Amino acid sequence: MSGYVLLSILFIVLVMLVIMTYYLRAVDKQEVQDEDGEDAPATVKVRDVVTAQTFVYTAIVLTSVCMVVSLYLIVKGTIWEGHLMEWMNIVIRLMHITFGIAWIGASFYFVFLENALNRTKDVREELAGNLWAVHGGGFYYLEKYKVAPKTIPKHLHWFKYEAYFTWLSGFCLLFVVYYFNAKALLIDKNVLDISPLAGLSIGVGSFVVAWILYDLICKTSLVQKGIWFALTGFIICTGFAYFYCHVFSARAAYMHFGAMLGSIMVANVFFVIIPAQKAMVKAAAENKPLDPKLGKNAGLRSLHNNYFTLPVLFVMISNHFPSTFGFEYPWVILAIISLGAAGVKHYLNIKEKGQLSVWVLPVSILILLSAAYISAPQKPGECKSVVSFAEVNAIIQQRCISCHSASPTDDFYTAPPNGITYDTPDNIVKLKDKIMQRVVLTKSMPQNNKTNMTEKERELIRCWIDQGASLK
Ligand code: HEC
Repeated sequence: MSGYVLLSILFIVLVMLVIMTYYLRAVDKQEVQDEDGEDAPATVKVRDVVTAQTFVYTAIVLTSVCMVVSLYLIVKGTIWEGHLMEWMNIVIRLMHITFGIAWIGASFYFVFLENALNRTKDVREELAGNLWAVHGGGFYYLEKYKVAPKTIPKHLHWFKYEAYFTWLSGFCLLFVVYYFNAKALLIDKNVLDISPLAGLSIGVGSFVVAWILYDLICKTSLVQKGIWFALTGFIICTGFAYFYCHVFSARAAYMHFGAMLGSIMVANVFFVIIPAQKAMVKAAAENKPLDPKLGKNAGLRSLHNNYFTLPVLFVMISNHFPSTFGFEYPWVILAIISLGAAGVKHYLNIKEKGQLSVWVLPVSILILLSAAYISAPQKPGECKSVVSFAEVNAIIQQRCISCHSASPTDDFYTAPPNGITYDTPDNIVKLKDKIMQRVVLTKSMPQNNKTNMTEKERELIRCWIDQGASLK
């Protein structure tokens, strides 16, 4: 009962906060008008209103989180717990994708803008360049300043919340999918038998370590030497991929690799790019000379982020493709695809600059294809004798039915995963291609080999399917 009371109180708080945003918006508008009348103290007031708005929005987010937590406490242990988790997964995932698209879209757009600027023809002294563009039925003319305009405009748009919210939603997702279900999804006893808490600490701790390491390297002179910096970064990333794949289940390892890169990206925004921009705005407002290093450094970090985007996107879809994380050495695929994807991004960047380094694209594609090549299934051995359905059925009943049954006995899955059941012979035959894919080729089933399937059993299943998967 107390859960419902808490939920109701939080709901009332939420409504009040939302009403407050309207009130603040009205004050904000009023004061901007006052300010246009050149009333000096109004500037201070505007800043106060902005601060108040930030507080209110933060409070809204925190209240919403508390509401979800109290809802969870209400349904915990009931049949609705799984349902709530599923919907949290859906909502947070949708948010994560949406913010991610906004963020990566902005990253692509601004790096494109930077690369494609006209820097020579009819460019005013104070400008770095300009660009004409047409989009959505409108013509746009953009100008980039060498350092900053003489006076900072009142309305300056900052790109930061896309990044922060992508990371926050991604971090929540990591909890909803992996940390709350650590025993089933994060930890694979055949890789390393650790406790859920140890898994969580290693996961989150590794993001901090990765950022510190990256940031330190960025402060050395190596950062100026493009190719050597990239090579060092690649070696370190491969080290992380190797580490994750030797600590977590392959799927979770992939996701942690992506989350690690994503965390570096958002830390770049939070700790370097935004503070540099704030310092630049402050210096311009106080009429102090601008340190051009600030802008350059922020630009460099922003470029690094741009190279991280495609590897991160690969990781985010890799969970759908067992042939990637199901490979015997999953970290190798991760390293190869990161390299190839960053190569493709590099090609796009130099192409936008109008440079002709055509070789970069085919080489990157060859690198990507090599991942497909090395993960291709081995040539199968000879099958010694005809395998009967009875043999195969015995294996499946022993190794798969605990999860893939209309009424599973597994400690985690209370409904058959993906709706797949092997209760009847017909079902087994119907799903033979998928069984081949998951049990023989990628060996990604049984999940984390929880039911200890042996190589010999996989081989028998392969022979049975190769021999026509008959029910005899
Ligand atoms: C510990 C529970 C568990 C066991 C045991 C298990 N699976 Fe699964 N299986 C899952 C989960 C969870 C999924 C969904 C996630 C995924 O695709 O990896 C799944 C998905 C699958 C899929 C993919 C279905 C699709 O829609 O693409 C196949 C095929 C499959 N399992 C076959 C098997 C076979 C065959 C066995 C026995 C050799 C087996 N599984 C044992 C948990 C299990």
